[in-house]
Amino acid sequence: MKKIIVAIDGYSSCGKSTIAKALAKYAGYTYVDTGAMYRAIGLYTLRHGLKEQADIVAALPNIQVGFVQVDGVQHVTLNGEDVESQIRTLEAGNCASRISQIKEVRAYLVAQQQAMGEEKGIVMDGRDIGTVVFPKAELKLFLTASPEVRAQRRFDELVSKGEQPNYDEVLADVNDRDYRDTHRAESPLKQANDAVVVDNSFMTPDEQMKLIYSIFEKACK
Ligand code: DC
Repeated sequence: MKKIIVAIDGYSSCGKSTIAKALAKYAGYTYVDTGAMYRAIGLYTLRHGLKEQADIVAALPNIQVGFVQVDGVQHVTLNGEDVESQIRTLEAGNCASRISQIKEVRAYLVAQQQAMGEEKGIVMDGRDIGTVVFPKAELKLFLTASPEVRAQRRFDELVSKGEQPNYDEVLADVNDRDYRDTHRAESPLKQANDAVVVDNSFMTPDEQMKLIYSIFEKACK
């Protein structure tokens, strides 16, 4: 079967990475979590106290983002250090959302992401994959779910990591991030015209994956 590029975009906490990972495994493809790349740069700016845009742009040549496999699970690296757990906090997520608005940061990561897709056989998730990174991807999925459902999922995830989140704050954070992701000047989150939309608010994980596998099979033909 021919290898294709699968571009998955959508709002935060709507299960993009879970779906992308499962699809990559099903297809025998490489999975790339581009949100993790923005989070790693966000973490670098937090660690170095960089707040001004010019300072962040000037630091880009010192920031190497990569991936390693740990027990079959993809972890993101920042200058060779495995930072997978440090990037998954609310603070790093908010910082990623802010630095992702900087044009030069996006150009820096988009070039790396396009290089990763040269051989095809890739499932990449993010906000601009079907619109900017791979506008010619053979399959584009746009995932969505209601803000309340997404906030509850994010809340449960934080609790499972030992954090003590407040639901209203998590919901406010989801709404803020949606606003920033869809209103920024650079590559705002938007549905590509040829994307298949999947609203998973009321789907079980099984129902959702069955649907996605069948859409993928069709796209490969
Ligand atoms: O998917 P995530 O929550 O891990 O993404 C973290 C932030 O990075 C999110 O606020 C939006 C941004 N992002 C982006 O601008 N473009 C991408 N391709 C992926 C993520």
